[in-house]
Amino acid sequence: MKKVILALSMMLSCFVSQAQERTDQWGVPYVKLNNGVEMPRFGLGTFAVSNEDCKQACLVALKDGYRHIDTAHAYGNEKGVGEAVKESGIPREEIWITSKLWPTEYGEDTTLKAIDEMLKRLGLEYIDLLYIHQPIGDYMGAWKDMEKAYKQGKVRALGISNCDAKDEAFTALVEKTKVKPAVHQIECHPYAQRLEVRKKHEPHHIVTECWFPLGHGDKTLLNDTTIAQIAKKHDKTPVQIILRWHIQEGFSVIPGNTNPDWIKENISIFDFSLDEEDMATMRSLNKEKRFYNMSLEQLEKFVFSYPMK
Ligand SMILES: NC(=O)c1ccc[n+]([C@@H]2O[C@H](COP(=O)([O-])OP(=O)(O)OC[C@H]3O[C@@H](n4cnc5c(N)ncnc54)[C@H](OP(=O)(O)O)[C@@H]3O)[C@@H](O)[C@H]2O)c1
Repeated sequence: MKKVILALSMMLSCFVSQAQERTDQWGVPYVKLNNGVEMPRFGLGTFAVSNEDCKQACLVALKDGYRHIDTAHAYGNEKGVGEAVKESGIPREEIWITSKLWPTEYGEDTTLKAIDEMLKRLGLEYIDLLYIHQPIGDYMGAWKDMEKAYKQGKVRALGISNCDAKDEAFTALVEKTKVKPAVHQIECHPYAQRLEVRKKHEPHHIVTECWFPLGHGDKTLLNDTTIAQIAKKHDKTPVQIILRWHIQEGFSVIPGNTNPDWIKENISIFDFSLDEEDMATMRSLNKEKRFYNMSLEQLEKFVFSYPMK
């Protein structure tokens, strides 16, 4: 079984390494999405961070070379993201901004208004990548309005999130839509490498973007002795090894935190590479152990009672 999983991983990484990518001055690779738009495959996550802390973290990150920020309406910090983009002085077109619609905003005619509200909160004229946050409620109606916003130039690419929880949603969103999902945001890290979901992305050229890339700071993962050995070999930290593994697997990765030292540490992964043996060792850590384990039924209840800020 382990051999089959390893072979599957190697096939996936070959597929990714065939893609030609440019890198920016910090070494961050840019993937061409299935609609031709280029996205930096490394960014800052902002989950569970207040508006003001988010703004400060984004300003630090943008100074350190980050050009991709992931937020969501549900995080309540889109305003902080937009303010940081403006205050950074970096041209808007050089920064990739991602946000997500909540299920209470889904539905034809409803979602288009929600997108305009989102743009107001961000204080921006367009969003680079807009996700449906959860495959719950009228996500197909939402998608129709997202397609309209895409055609109107308010959004540059459309994405799906957490559709691994609902196969029928993934299938409908890739098969019954005009503008196809370009990115799928899912929980993914060395302990849950999500081989089955990643295989489904391939025929549609959907990029895997990893949330909880560091297991949400789980100490067992960050103190894993195997990762520590690879870190010692490269004179890097275990967190840097995990993030470098994400990049070399071809993922887009958005580690979250507000600590300036960690923000710097996390982007300092483009001056070394893991060799095939390191990659094989990292792949062998997979046990498909997720850290977020809410069932679809629990999630359905949760999303409609979630107190939006
Ligand atoms: N689509 C979705 O449903 C969904 C769900 C979850 C997250 N996301 C997105 O994915 C992003 C990433 O997920 P996440 O932030 O929850 O988890 P994560 O990136 O896996 O882990 C973040 C935690 O790791 C620790 N950490 C980060 N850098 C570190 C470093 N250099 N050294 C030591 N510890 C470090 C910090 O933990 P402590 O501060 O606890 O020490 C930090 O809070 C989010 O911010 C959000 O943008 C999306």
